[in-house]
Amino acid sequence: MVEQIISPPAETAKTGGREGGRVLSTPQRLSEITADGLTRLPLPMAEFSRVLGGGIVPGSLILVGGDPGIGKSTLLVDVAALMANTHGATLYISGEESLRQIKMRADRLGLDAKELFLVTETNLEAMFEHIAEIKPTMVVVDSIQTTYTEESKSSAGSVTQVRRCASRFQELAKGSGLTVILVGHVTKEGAIAGPRVLEHIVDTVLYLEGDPFHRYRLLRGVKNRFGATSEVGVFEMLDKGMVEVQNPSEAFLAERQVNVPGSAIAVTIEGTRPLLVEIQALGSTSTFSNPRRTSNGIDYNRLLLLTAVLSRRVNLKLHDKDIFTNVIGGLQITEPAADLSVAVAIASSVKDRPVHADMAFVGEVGLSGELRAVSQLDTRLKEAVKLGFRRCVIPQSARKRGLQIPDGLEAIGCRSLREAVDVSLLSK
Ligand SMILES: Nc1ncnc2c1ncn2[C@@H]1O[C@H](COP(=O)(O)OP(=O)(O)OP(=O)(O)O)[C@@H](O)[C@H]1O
Ligand SMILES: [Mg+2]
Repeated sequence: MVEQIISPPAETAKTGGREGGRVLSTPQRLSEITADGLTRLPLPMAEFSRVLGGGIVPGSLILVGGDPGIGKSTLLVDVAALMANTHGATLYISGEESLRQIKMRADRLGLDAKELFLVTETNLEAMFEHIAEIKPTMVVVDSIQTTYTEESKSSAGSVTQVRRCASRFQELAKGSGLTVILVGHVTKEGAIAGPRVLEHIVDTVLYLEGDPFHRYRLLRGVKNRFGATSEVGVFEMLDKGMVEVQNPSEAFLAERQVNVPGSAIAVTIEGTRPLLVEIQALGSTSTFSNPRRTSNGIDYNRLLLLTAVLSRRVNLKLHDKDIFTNVIGGLQITEPAADLSVAVAIASSVKDRPVHADMAFVGEVGLSGELRAVSQLDTRLKEAVKLGFRRCVIPQSARKRGLQIPDGLEAIGCRSLREAVDVSLLSK
């Protein structure tokens, strides 16, 4: 039970309303409204800019969410320092760490920014005073869950507090052109409010994700009022901080072993960028009456579907096999275009025959075992050939539609999963 005290909002919203019986807003013709061009502030951190759609939009409210300890503060103190060096005063407000701790981290990251101001504060009204005094171009609030406003009596981190504080920052950003970045912890449902309750208030929502046991971190855009969503920035967590990964496909394939059964390369698309990732599968004889299916990085239900299609349409005996699948690099793949590579990896492991080393896979698998066309095939094939793949198995239906096949790549069109499994495995 969370106590909710309903108090009137401190100030009227700037979006209109009525005052003394007079309506404040006036409708205008679209053609008469002049847009003063959304000029973005460029940021010398390409991966971060990419996720935002090409730079920071002044006056926007950005939420960066992520699991505890994933590296949110590390990334944002770096971004704040870059902003300070390129666009002037930047304020970093921390409610979680002392100035000494932040300084230690900044030293570790080798940051040097004269215009970066730090303060430890959890009171919203005090934060606003600091902002009025310093007049920064950007403010980072780490984190929204530790921030509280005196307007509400509930404790910091409650839904009321988190919402109220975020709305106040939204008003501030819209009114003054200041960019505000809020940090939010992803939390389980409950008394503590996670970033989910804020998604509709803010302009942009970015999630920092990754497997804590792996070096790679993905910054994923899930909502963006000023750019394409589902763009992904790839970083590597090193002791000198979050380092941008310029060529993620190369990085993800770096430790690949060729000619080992149970591995297949998928050409996926994250946002607008093609990514080549290695999918691994292992089938081993089960000692349980209900064999296990474990999916790491791909959807569990998708894995069940693919194993069912493999048993029924490819006649693979999987009823007595435990099946484990893994996406290398701690990546999470949601698009169906990776189906074919997962299915081929499983078939390769169960049949104990490696996949051709120069082969990559793109295709969605349907319930009758057919391969279905996927989007942006041209882009995917270009990336595959760039990374040295000579052959790519694609759905036959995609071949007919005036597909541009890059030089040096053989696109093998297959109608069904069975056909694809036959062409992709080396003979014993
Ligand atoms: N010296 C170091 N070398 C390499 N990595 C380090 C070092 N110190 C910390 N880290 C990494 O930084 C991570 C913590 O980063 P950070 O504090 O930015 O995360 P956060 O998302 O802000 O966490 P929180 O949710 O606690 O605020 C640790 O999990 C660790 O992996
Ligand atoms: Mg932190």
